[in-house]
Amino acid sequence: MSHISNLIATDIDSYLKSHEEKSLLRFITCGSVDDGKSTLIGRMLYESHMLFDDQLSSLKTDSKKIGTQGEEIDFALLVDGLAAEREQGITIDVAYRFFSTDKRKYIVADTPGHEEYTRNMATGASTADVAIILVDAEQGVLTQTRRHSFIVSMVGVKNVLLAINKLDLVEYSQQVYDDIVSEYREFADSALNLESITPVPISALMGDNVVNKSENTPWFNGQTIMQYLETVEVSNQKALQSFRMPVQWVNRPNSKFRGFSGLIASGEINTGDEVRILPGGNTSHIKSIVTWEGELPKAKVGKSVTITLEDEIDVSRGDIIALSSDPCGEADQFQARILWMNNDAMMPGRQYLLKSSTQSATLTLGKLKHRIDVNTLDHLPAKTLELNEIGVCNISLDKRIAFDSYDDNQTMGGFIIVDRLSNNTVGMGLIDFALRRSENIHWQKMDVSQDSRAEQKSQTPRIIWFTGLSGSGKSSIANILEKKLQSLGKHTITLDGDNIRHGLNRDLGFTEADRVENIRRVGEVAKLMLNSGLICITSFISPFESERAMARSLVSENEFVEVFVDTPLSVCEERDVKGLYAKARSGEIPNFTGISSPFEDPKNPEIRIDTTKISAEEAANQIIEFITKQ
Ligand code: ADX
Repeated sequence: MSHISNLIATDIDSYLKSHEEKSLLRFITCGSVDDGKSTLIGRMLYESHMLFDDQLSSLKTDSKKIGTQGEEIDFALLVDGLAAEREQGITIDVAYRFFSTDKRKYIVADTPGHEEYTRNMATGASTADVAIILVDAEQGVLTQTRRHSFIVSMVGVKNVLLAINKLDLVEYSQQVYDDIVSEYREFADSALNLESITPVPISALMGDNVVNKSENTPWFNGQTIMQYLETVEVSNQKALQSFRMPVQWVNRPNSKFRGFSGLIASGEINTGDEVRILPGGNTSHIKSIVTWEGELPKAKVGKSVTITLEDEIDVSRGDIIALSSDPCGEADQFQARILWMNNDAMMPGRQYLLKSSTQSATLTLGKLKHRIDVNTLDHLPAKTLELNEIGVCNISLDKRIAFDSYDDNQTMGGFIIVDRLSNNTVGMGLIDFALRRSENIHWQKMDVSQDSRAEQKSQTPRIIWFTGLSGSGKSSIANILEKKLQSLGKHTITLDGDNIRHGLNRDLGFTEADRVENIRRVGEVAKLMLNSGLICITSFISPFESERAMARSLVSENEFVEVFVDTPLSVCEERDVKGLYAKARSGEIPNFTGISSPFEDPKNPEIRIDTTKISAEEAANQIIEFITKQ
């Protein structure tokens, strides 16, 4: 746990404390740069005589007292609420800005810039009570409008304020306004799970209906944006939900006074309550609840606390503390809704990192069930998700995590997907439910082991993983290698790309997604061969670093020998044994590796072979020498 997020929690605590009697409203503004998002925020503050500090990325607190319209408004605290995540190499730009009026305190999620990245918006919306969706009156309802609405609804926002902006540019036409409202309602009624849609005709630039009622829209009888925000009723769902606290760090882990610190994500806890630690399920009772104000008999959502327990049980960073009487679930396979946020498409079968509250696990995305077209809301068949696309798929993890469905608890049911190589956030997901099969399938322990099988064969099992372009010479070297190993009395098997694609992987082609699945299956089969005590030789292009790393991760360290057959493309193309390069150049074969599909060079292969310098025979000898030495 870093001091930064600790500080944030404290700042929020103290901010909330200083306005304890006022109700809190969190909102987000959605729209592209041209829709007038920042003009609107600017106008709201200007007319209310409030100030924002525009330095979004710096962490600081500030407090000013400014009189306005006879009221006293005190402002403001500016915190980059996700600084902690940025520290872990994840960049999500959301600034939470705080201000308050006589009636309410507000937290605005501001998501600057990068319009193509919905990730900022989705993150900001996930804690909002109200979303202000901006529509440009001249443009009407756009795909972008639908996408933003779909996302805010997907992450649980129930109230939308539909701000139809730039009305001054259409001569304050009621007709234009009415048409946009009805088009939006038609879309929202069929697609979104909203409780209310409140349309307001505005000009953020001119100030119409932002804070004060405009004389330019005599036909409009509703509230202005500020009036709406001051009066809208939102239920405090999180306070009513079951108690959940992700453990962010363990204090004094080796002493008897061990405490577990974190921010209460939902519900309320009292000293003496019986709690359950998940995953695992150990139980104990709450001995004390310590905060920066001292010990408290009870604490609720939004508070940073350190909890001590009656019993010495195993609790680590990442665990979830829940009430015994109402615990969360625990599973390693789920159905989830996924929003893809990366330029590189999502790849079912590929491994990513999942981060949910304080937990993390290795995540494998299953086959997509469908993709959702945000314009028509149709469920479309799809193999991958591109940037900003939304779909539903099953996911599996390498270990069990504590969870609730997203609809029950946003903190516990939401997760982000991180690319393991680049460490970028590439998607977000919402858990729908755990798959029962994960509860009904257990690992069966067998008495005959890999070691005993290998001993019977008097050999050390290995996976010798060839990678390289088509025509680089992988299969020729593999062939000679297997013959040599056999003559040495070794038991072997070879898995070859072209051959496996005639049987097990007959259903796969050469798109990126199919290649990922091809190598995933081959990795699993190679592991089974290794377990049977064999020396398993694989010969696949295996063009992606990520899947080679995955295959390697399935087995122990020395068991995987990566052999990069490093033949330049020009040489492979000149040889063109199967005539495929000629066809690829003429456009007859799409997605051809090296021509129209990438090959990522291995960074640290155990063996690199330059076939322009040594023969296949010499290469095979070099490999045998390597594994003998090993
Ligand atoms: S991989 O990329 O998924 O690892 P794999 O090794 O199974 O590929 O299959 C590669 C073999 O399929 C090549 O040696 C070639 O004979 C054949 N092939 C057919 N189409 C393609 C293509 N578009 N790209 C690469 N190889 C292809």
